Amino acid sequence: MRKKIVAGNWKMNLDYNEGLALFSEVTNMVKDEATGNQQVVVCSPFIHLHSLAQLAKGYSNIAVGAQNAHQAESGAYTGEVSAKQVKSTGAEYVILGHSERRQYFGESNELLAKKTDIALANGLKPIFCIGETLQQREANEHFGIIKSQLEEGVFHLDADKFGQVVLAYEPVWAIGTGVTATSDQAQEIHAFIRAELATKYGQQVADDTTILYGGSCNAKNAGELFACADIDGGLIGGASLKSRDFTDIVKAFN
Ligand code: PGA
Repeated sequence: MRKKIVAGNWKMNLDYNEGLALFSEVTNMVKDEATGNQQVVVCSPFIHLHSLAQLAKGYSNIAVGAQNAHQAESGAYTGEVSAKQVKSTGAEYVILGHSERRQYFGESNELLAKKTDIALANGLKPIFCIGETLQQREANEHFGIIKSQLEEGVFHLDADKFGQVVLAYEPVWAIGTGVTATSDQAQEIHAFIRAELATKYGQQVADDTTILYGGSCNAKNAGELFACADIDGGLIGGASLKSRDFTDIVKAFN
């Protein structure tokens, strides 16, 4: 049975002490909520990773992730952080291909394929983000965009490696806007993604892949979204910065 995941994406928020305080609150509140095959992942800025990973050690259902990693193994890339460095903090996951990275840092599918390879080679599980802009949806291009993001970003992986990948469908028009995709819109895309996975890797791999929804997911709409057959949890931005809201989203599984 595939994992159900609620992942928080803190983005570039919280100083070191604020991050530790929030994480302690979150672990206390969610440790008894995420049960069975449910997992909570907190994706923090790099500065928090090691400390959070230490704190997460006591909880089998809570893990830590980064929000990015460089595509090279190591070297003269001033200011960058490698997948190996992320892994050495105790982090287990890394978000790759978030729309903000694609938009503000020019990350292409081709680059993200390299980042995915190096993350996997270093034992990190990518949370690989895909999603269309409003313009693309209005032009009815969303299915094509999702398909090419999959084909160019992750479909070079063999089935074994792909088995380590979590996908996150995040329509760009829903991120940080307060406009959530309806559960019908989200389910339609998630079902499409799973069908693409079945065509590429077979039904078993498709059934085992966790596909998260992201974009203005909150305590109010999470229950309806997570009840959809092909939505296996959420990637949560704004609402992950408040322990009560984040916990309520984790509880929405139950
Ligand atoms: P949001 O962000 O929940 O604030 O819309 C989601 C994300 O960027 O992953």
